[in-house]
Amino acid sequence: APVTAPDLSKCGAADVPADAKPTNCCLPKTNKIIEFKLPPPSNILRVRPAAHLADEKYIAKFSKALQLMKSLPDDDPRSFKQQSNIHCAYCEGAYHQVGFPSTELQVHNSWLFFPFHRFYLYFFEKILGMLLDDPAFAIPFWNWDSPAGMKIPAMYADQGSKYRPVRAVPAGSYRKMGVPSRILTGIPVRMNFASVAADSRYNYDADINSPLYNRLRDAKHQPPTLIDLDYNLTDPKNIDEEKQKLRNLTIMYRQVVSGGKTPRLFLGSSYRAGDNQDPGAGSPENIPHGPVHIWCGDRTQPNLEDMGNFYSAGRDPIFYGHHANVDRIWTVWKTLGGKRNDFKDPDWLNSEFTFYDENAQLVTVKVKESLYHRKLGYVYQDVEIPWLNTRP
Ligand code: C2O
Repeated sequence: APVTAPDLSKCGAADVPADAKPTNCCLPKTNKIIEFKLPPPSNILRVRPAAHLADEKYIAKFSKALQLMKSLPDDDPRSFKQQSNIHCAYCEGAYHQVGFPSTELQVHNSWLFFPFHRFYLYFFEKILGMLLDDPAFAIPFWNWDSPAGMKIPAMYADQGSKYRPVRAVPAGSYRKMGVPSRILTGIPVRMNFASVAADSRYNYDADINSPLYNRLRDAKHQPPTLIDLDYNLTDPKNIDEEKQKLRNLTIMYRQVVSGGKTPRLFLGSSYRAGDNQDPGAGSPENIPHGPVHIWCGDRTQPNLEDMGNFYSAGRDPIFYGHHANVDRIWTVWKTLGGKRNDFKDPDWLNSEFTFYDENAQLVTVKVKESLYHRKLGYVYQDVEIPWLNTRP
């Protein structure tokens, strides 16, 4: 049988690492759950741009959207805090499987990995679009599989005097800030700048203004340092840039083309109701997905926070850019032919998750609704895929 959506009323303490600050990452509770419906076909297509190719105007808009999200009160399920908690809740045992009280729910290392993260980003993007009052707004992807994208994109690395946050304004003047009035319906939106500023995790220091910047990243991996897609906590020594780029491309070929010949190899092993967690990751989940996480995380932190650990990864805005690229790789893989198709197994297709949508309503989604990204209303900017021809 398929894994079912967790019961939010039965959320326990997450198993965060022993030396991490205790974290309550349970999602807000509610009694009302609605079923997800694919959006009606429309002519609004959200085009996700490559982060390193995005222009100033786009960066300013994305920054504003994140700023607005970070300014929502912490208990609003659409706030950045709650959005980042989603990752902690679904990955550190805060929920158990419904009907199996001693079996943790874990969305990594199995066939749930790709669809879960696709929906996660889908709602994250819809919330940002709602905050901007722009239904065409699309999040960027970190194009680390292309030579020009193999470093932290400038938009995330810039501490941001250029992208000043929206200024705090007295309650009641939301319109002036460009916050659409309709977000004031449903769950009330209270802009709470004081508490945001007081939480240093959000980096609202006088000198750090960009909501895309995150302090907890590896200082040795700032741009222009090239990423190693096979990174395993040891930096390559004196490797020539061109060699590193080529190496990354062959890693992509190995993990996606030759290592991903079947749905099980690419998407991961089956994980059904009652199964123990971690039956096995698909090849790209292991590499490069994992290495990109630990390469970003701060090596001076006990658990490679933020990106290098499940409980904290969602706190770094680059997480969503990283996962948009992982999601894009899924769309590419499906075009490669052979047996590179999604599973037809009903237990996969009917697996469920819950997320809060842009109207702060809790929604149950099924894997089968995630399979066609166009049906979810978005596509990726068309970029070259040089690794398709870099057989090792
Ligand atoms: Cu949920 Cu990149 O991991």
